[in-house]
Amino acid sequence: MWSRSSRGHELSMTRRGFLRAAVGSLLAAAGCGATRAHGRGETTVTQDDSGIVQARFRPGAVWLDTEGTPIQAHGGGMLIHQGIYYWFGENRAAETKRATLARVDVIGVNCYSSTDLIHWKNEGVVLPAVKDDPEHDLHPSRVVERPKVLYNEATRTFVMWMHIDKSDYGYARTGVATSDSPTGPYRYRGSVQPNGADSRDMTVYKDDDGAAYLFHSSQWNKTMHIVRLSDDYLQPTDRFVREFVNRSREAPAIFKHEGRYYCITSGCTGWDANPAEYAVSESIMGPWKVRGNPCIGAPEEIATTFHSQSTFVLPVQGRPGAFIFMADRWKRESLDDSRYVWLPLEVKGPSIAIRWHEEWDLSYFDA
Ligand code: DGJ
Repeated sequence: MWSRSSRGHELSMTRRGFLRAAVGSLLAAAGCGATRAHGRGETTVTQDDSGIVQARFRPGAVWLDTEGTPIQAHGGGMLIHQGIYYWFGENRAAETKRATLARVDVIGVNCYSSTDLIHWKNEGVVLPAVKDDPEHDLHPSRVVERPKVLYNEATRTFVMWMHIDKSDYGYARTGVATSDSPTGPYRYRGSVQPNGADSRDMTVYKDDDGAAYLFHSSQWNKTMHIVRLSDDYLQPTDRFVREFVNRSREAPAIFKHEGRYYCITSGCTGWDANPAEYAVSESIMGPWKVRGNPCIGAPEEIATTFHSQSTFVLPVQGRPGAFIFMADRWKRESLDDSRYVWLPLEVKGPSIAIRWHEEWDLSYFDA
């Protein structure tokens, strides 16, 4: 049987091989092809000769795109535009270098598109590294993390924000790129330290009224800054607040439900997982009230957020109140093989809960 722990997809090769063979035989008996195997673990999709015949979310498994290649969209975020989901994230498909903090040379920001959240078409590297200028923010030697894209209705522009850094994380800026199409190409427009403050992990959030906000870890990650963006989303304004003061939070993921704002964050432990924490507010600019760890499960699971770190909370289209917690299961020794942990988020008034599911699909939200 599959392990019930959130590390279930890290089973031994022997057991994985046995399961793959068993599932393959069952599918063959049912007239389908075999479970698609990938060298580094079980995959999320099952295919036959005519394409994908079955799919569910499998947190922590290798997740293949529609061409059968592992998805590279780490530290990702989602844009929903005209009924299509666009998943943006870090392309880390290269060798992991053992620096003080393990790193992969910047390749760029990838984009994938989907209508069902399971099958993802690779739209390519929409913001590529700039290889010929060592001083450029996007040079392979730099750090480009946590890209998030918003659509500005007034200017009809797709605006990408991301964490820009040097390999020692001492540069601490946030960068902006724009495009007139969700799938790019994006034009890099530069980086800033908002209101003169250092900026590392970040996200952006667009409110119902069209106003957008940047959440960024600042003051050497000790405190989160929440900054109102300009109306065109291209710049930080001087309207900002400091929240979670001295709580050392990063990896912010924001969502709103029935007039309340929720912010899930991680602690600051490099690539290692740690306990998540969430906070709730009646106003995006605070005051935010910290409510504790949203994860429910065995002690080791809640102490590590199911061995993952928050990156985004996705409201599911057409299902009010349905949210997906998106997180990264980083693999420090081979960052390219870091996995995605997507779990349903339960929201009840000011309380939220995240529980482990070995496999699940959107019918979870039907109940
Ligand atoms: C934790 C951050 O959340 C990641 O985005 C990345 O910057 C790592 N630290 C680097 O150690």
